[in-house]
Amino acid sequence: MAARKPLIAGNWKMFGRATDLGEIAALAERVGAAGDKVEALICPPSAYVQSAAWQARGKAVAIGAQDCSAVAEDGARTGEVSAAMLADAGARYVIVGHSERRTLQGETDDLVRQKAEAVLAAGITPIVCVGETRAERDAGRVAKVIGAQVRNSVPTAGAGAVIAYEPVWCIGGDRTPTLAEIGEVHALIRSVLNERFGAEANGMRILYGGSVGPKNAGEIFTVDGVDGALVGRASLKAADFSAIILAHPAAS
Ligand code: PGA
Repeated sequence: MAARKPLIAGNWKMFGRATDLGEIAALAERVGAAGDKVEALICPPSAYVQSAAWQARGKAVAIGAQDCSAVAEDGARTGEVSAAMLADAGARYVIVGHSERRTLQGETDDLVRQKAEAVLAAGITPIVCVGETRAERDAGRVAKVIGAQVRNSVPTAGAGAVIAYEPVWCIGGDRTPTLAEIGEVHALIRSVLNERFGAEANGMRILYGGSVGPKNAGEIFTVDGVDGALVGRASLKAADFSAIILAHPAAS
């Protein structure tokens, strides 16, 4: 089986200004040659995707977006940004179905799947987020919830997608599941992908997200089946984000 190249993605959420795009060059400098072995990605707010892509030109940092329209074709949809536009602006990935959008914007698995399809149609890669709430974990429903999200949010022709497992109760705080719990859910996701995509599933990366920082990244990367991370707060500054990237065993 071909080794999957680790992907460490930063989600800036609704933070940052044009002046913060200088973090991209600073990140590339700090990551140095490790950028060939571990893929570094920054997803700024859509207003900055194009400038970020300019800043990242010729550097080992890819640029992505945090969301897109579920509609692939151009049309009269005020305020929407299509995956094709983001790709044209230089995005190589689009995060879809982040739990903040599922909760705050009421996004369903169906909508998330349509967005992922639009991203694939634009020739770039969706990062499809799944994750259980604390109540769902306490009720012993993790396998059921995650299984359903992976089946219903990842398109049928979605073997090109990246999956991010982000337990909702771990985002933006300081809690993470135990390493064993992370391993269990990654194995579960992998088995659903195998069932759906057969041999093609071998190339699909599954990231862990939720309170990843310079202190815990190294141990999380040792968990079998973890192909990288999706990082929120700790991706805003090159110093922290580069420490996470360099903590990956493949980086050294
Ligand atoms: P966090 O966010 O790293 O700040 O917990 C992760 C995410 O929401 O993707």
